[in-house]
Amino acid sequence: VRVKLLGTAAGGGIPQWNCSCTGCQQARRYGSWRAQDTVAISGDERAWYMLNASPDLRAQLLGAPELAPGPGRRQTPVRGVLLSTAELDHTIGLLMLREAEQLEVYGTAAVLDALTGCFPVRQILGCYTEVCWHVVSPADPVELAGGLLVNVVPVGTKRPRYASTTTYPGREQVVAYRITDRRTGGTLVYAPCLAAIDEAFLAAVKGADCIMLDGTFLHDDEMARSTGGGRLATEMGHLPIADSLPRLAAATRARIIYTHLNNTNPVAALDTPDRDAITAGGAEVGEDGQTFTL
Ligand code: MLT
Ligand code: MN
Ligand code: ZN
Repeated sequence: VRVKLLGTAAGGGIPQWNCSCTGCQQARRYGSWRAQDTVAISGDERAWYMLNASPDLRAQLLGAPELAPGPGRRQTPVRGVLLSTAELDHTIGLLMLREAEQLEVYGTAAVLDALTGCFPVRQILGCYTEVCWHVVSPADPVELAGGLLVNVVPVGTKRPRYASTTTYPGREQVVAYRITDRRTGGTLVYAPCLAAIDEAFLAAVKGADCIMLDGTFLHDDEMARSTGGGRLATEMGHLPIADSLPRLAAATRARIIYTHLNNTNPVAALDTPDRDAITAGGAEVGEDGQTFTL
């Protein structure tokens, strides 16, 4: 499976438009921006799927030669989107794809419910293009064009803030995807929002070649350290790197790449001691544009 990180920041991106924290200022000064989290994957380098659809999607697609259209006038290698949550930073990009002639979108029943009611993307997109909405569940692996097999792994019950009053059952609000290339056997686990590492998650990453993991925060109290207030990372459904790295590095031999970095996270910047600690711990910090094959 060919994997291309189109964006590696959490909601708001880095820099965030209204933020003058140290990380955002530095990103402005050095031009070291990070777009919001989205990953492109392909089994045959002809059919591509997006893992989440960030608000930055148009620029992300334009910046990736693999995803350029042609030879037909409206022919695109972008087949569809797999959603790991209904959060705005992972779904607004669907609206940017309205020019598509056809689109496949995958999400759990809980995610598609949020996109029908509170944030009616389904109704809106349906006025512009033909979308096939696929309900995914842990019981039913999904086959994608190009020889990819996808397993759905529930990892959290947190609803988006805009959907906090809905009555839809909380289960499977947040999932990870385990993607296996049928031809090469290469396996990627994509888990940009992970509330905890439990036995089920350890089973899901078993034998994986690469885990793309929730790197929103380095420390649980990072918001307080950075802004003097705010909730704990774990209260926001994001296991901090300081907790996940030792746990996962001990349990797996997979390459670990952190993504969905918040602008408070010191490892988002280049050349910081915190970042060296990640490398020393056996993991990497993802970069926009990073591309590899599994
Ligand atoms: C999250 O990852 O927790 C959400 O995207 C937060 C947000 O952007 O509102
Ligand atoms: Mn997010
Ligand atoms: Zn900032």
